Amino acid sequence: MARLAVNVDHVATVRQARGIDEPDPVLAAGLAELAGAEGIICHLREDRRHIQDRDLALLRQTVKTKLNLEMAAVEEMIEIAMKTGPDMVTLVPEKREELTTEGGLDVVSNKDHYKRTVDRLKPEGILVSFFVDADPQQIRAVHECGGDIVEIHTGHYADAKNETEANRLFDRIRLGVESAQENGLRISAGHGLNYVNVKPFKVLPQIEEYSIGHSIVARAILVGFERAVREMLELVKNF
Ligand code: PXP
Repeated sequence: MARLAVNVDHVATVRQARGIDEPDPVLAAGLAELAGAEGIICHLREDRRHIQDRDLALLRQTVKTKLNLEMAAVEEMIEIAMKTGPDMVTLVPEKREELTTEGGLDVVSNKDHYKRTVDRLKPEGILVSFFVDADPQQIRAVHECGGDIVEIHTGHYADAKNETEANRLFDRIRLGVESAQENGLRISAGHGLNYVNVKPFKVLPQIEEYSIGHSIVARAILVGFERAVREMLELVKNF
């Protein structure tokens, strides 16, 4: 049975849009755990556009399942990870101007750097996951760097314009999964998965964990909206 790890970044996105203190991604993480999520993920970006250092510190204190810190493999973040001690980190590429993580890591061309990063994090007891495209060369490089887990990037599949393209990209993910297995890596998957496009993954039981954020936050806003309006109406209707 696969696990669900919930990414709470976009709860923070809504908060940051107002620059106040709600909604709190730390509370959302607690609710996700109560609902059965087996992991909480946050991405501390260099520009702090959603998750803040305070969120990470509080999540470390409150998450009872497994805290996964997504981060770029840069000095600032490596030091924060070593100080905070998440259960695992997921190394992702990060560009300042991107709306979200756009592609997988190029581990093949930066093997020495990533190996050094793994060598610093693993002695702290932090598992290291690499977010890569379903490319056997990249996946082999993750193994060569000493990574524990490969998170296969499902964003291209999620963005497919039609069924034929989606099927082709799903087949690539399937090959990526096989390649991760051959390299003895644990496997997760994520990015752009929603309540519809996640369904075909049932045929890939090798994938241990799904990392899902935006679609859950988007659905929460809509399925919770009516109740929120009714509760405000109760307050104001008898004024
Ligand atoms: N995995 C990685 C590496 C990501 O960067 C993200 C987005 O932060 C996700 C999974 C979750 O993607 P989404 O928010 O589209 O579910």
